[in-house]
Amino acid sequence: MADNGDILIPYPLEILTDRLALRSPAFSHAEPLCEAVVESFSELHPWMPWAQEEPSVEKTAENIRKAIDEFKAQTAIRIHVFDRKTGQIVGSSGYPRVDLAVPNVEIGYWIRTSRTRRGICRETVRALTRYAMETLRVQRVEIRCDNDNERSWRVAERVGFTLEGILRRNCLDCRGRPRNTRVYSMLPDEWATKQQ
Ligand SMILES: CC(C)(COP(=O)(O)OP(=O)(O)OC[C@H]1O[C@@H](n2cnc3c(N)ncnc32)[C@H](O)[C@@H]1OP(=O)(O)O)[C@@H](O)C(=O)NCCC(=O)NCCS
Repeated sequence: MADNGDILIPYPLEILTDRLALRSPAFSHAEPLCEAVVESFSELHPWMPWAQEEPSVEKTAENIRKAIDEFKAQTAIRIHVFDRKTGQIVGSSGYPRVDLAVPNVEIGYWIRTSRTRRGICRETVRALTRYAMETLRVQRVEIRCDNDNERSWRVAERVGFTLEGILRRNCLDCRGRPRNTRVYSMLPDEWATKQQ
């Protein structure tokens, strides 16, 4: 594990919420994760650059190996989201960008199609924001969304993140067209206020 001074995210990691268990990636997740991606492919495809081809279990296992390496190096923190009652994998989230110098993190997420619109993403984002603020003691949590992906940016707004601005044509979308990106953030004092 990287020696990064103040922040140390343990591997393996488990964070529990009312309904969910958020866990660091493990090889045993390959088959159920692949199944969740295949089930959700048409919803993931427009928004997630990695979802341009349906995955195989082998490809998913390779991807999990990379995610474990990145987790241990603390360069990107993947978190798989499980239903505590059924044990089913319901999505994936984490901190795809970690800046240990500030420190700050970005949160990313997707939820499998059969389990959307039940507040699972919100519960996940809330738990990862809490962990970042209260355990990692970051200065900032950021969420970036394609301006056209309203379902995604509504999650950030419902959790109480502040829209800082919209970056105009700052990168390409999954079809290779210039896209506008919403940047949301939460600072520690704002998080503390929302918990009262
Ligand atoms: C965007 C995405 C992550 C949302 O996940 P989700 O789990 O459906 O999100 P939530 O349920 O937390 O919130 C979505 C809606 O469910 C509603 N909801 C919340 N709790 C609920 C409950 N207990 N029962 C019913 N509906 C509920 C919310 O009000 C919200 O509705 P609104 O948008 O009208 O406000 C999911 O659609 C997805 O994975 N999309 C594809 C990938 C993607 O775009 N990822 C983001 C890239 S930045």
